[in-house]
Amino acid sequence: MADLKVGVIGCGGHAQSHFTMIKNEPRMTLVAIAETDDDRLQKAQTNHRPQFAFTDFRQMLDQIDLDLVYVVTMPGHLLPIVLECLGRNLHTSIEKSPGMVPEETRQMMTAARQSKGKAIVSVNRRYKPEVLAVRRLLQKRGGAVQVAANYHKPPSGLRHPGRWAVAPPEIICDAIHHVDLLRWMAGQAPTEAARAIELYAHSWQGDREGTPRYNAIITFDNGCRGTIMSHYGVGYRVQTAEVHTEDMSAYLDLTGQPEITLYLEGKRCETPLDLDAVGGADFNETRHFTDCILNDTMPWSSLEDLVYTMDLCQAIENGHQGPLH
Ligand SMILES: NC(=O)c1ccc[n+]([C@@H]2O[C@H](COP(=O)([O-])OP(=O)(O)OC[C@H]3O[C@@H](n4cnc5c(N)ncnc54)[C@H](O)[C@@H]3O)[C@@H](O)[C@H]2O)c1
Repeated sequence: MADLKVGVIGCGGHAQSHFTMIKNEPRMTLVAIAETDDDRLQKAQTNHRPQFAFTDFRQMLDQIDLDLVYVVTMPGHLLPIVLECLGRNLHTSIEKSPGMVPEETRQMMTAARQSKGKAIVSVNRRYKPEVLAVRRLLQKRGGAVQVAANYHKPPSGLRHPGRWAVAPPEIICDAIHHVDLLRWMAGQAPTEAARAIELYAHSWQGDREGTPRYNAIITFDNGCRGTIMSHYGVGYRVQTAEVHTEDMSAYLDLTGQPEITLYLEGKRCETPLDLDAVGGADFNETRHFTDCILNDTMPWSSLEDLVYTMDLCQAIENGHQGPLH
């Protein structure tokens, strides 16, 4: 079986979930890590046992023969690292948000077009087996008519001094998960997300620091309509979505382990979702990226596609009203 040699750049909080997925993917081997912070580098070395560890990611790329690299830094640090990896024709996994502003995503997209490496943006909600199974049911019924999402959290620390320089506004840095999920659930083909063509958005700040609020109504290019509400300051995490089409509704609670309530043909459906039909209960973005690399196919959450999610997030942040061009 093919063995992809993997490097990870940035070994902070979220990298730990990538380390777990890499470990669980038999076609990947973690070979090297890079982290500027000595304590984090040492901790990752102890916990994940790569062969090589570096404080300078360029030295890692110069010295180690890698097939793919995970870039798991904050958005403000991503661009030069991603450009360097794609410039070296490495397959590259990029954390969300892919840059601070849509223009940075476009720069990454241009580099990906010129690279022999593939790029995936790690918007992990797309790859949850329960999400894929609900989407499959929707598409069997002609696709979603309406999609809705809530993304609520305690006050955000993303704009604290120090972090501000490396994190864009919350709707881009974080609630992007459910903006992207709306596009994905509204998509009518198995590998496609819908594009927003009209938007009525409100974006405003609460009185306390770190409490932005967002409401938006979206029309997609295939006629599906969407809404999103996001509030940082409610004091707890709630990440839900709902989707509706003819004779079908699904309510998705993605706050923790996904919980799905499904109604089909006018009745609550008690039959478990068919996860095997969408890759199995352990499917995830790492499995998908491995398949794409080995089968030479385009990742579902490519930079080409994520540009549309970034544009939509930015338009919500701007309180856009009317058609989108
Ligand atoms: N998909 C999800 O559910 C999810 C959850 C949390 C965070 N994230 C995303 O993951 C990313 C990282 O978030 P985090 O919470 O792990 O942040 P973090 O600050 O804990 O980790 C980032 C690490 O990158 C390192 N770093 C920065 N520049 C570097 C460089 N040039 N070379 C090597 N290392 C470098 C930092 O020292 C830090 O340890 C963010 O983009 C965030 O949006 C995604």
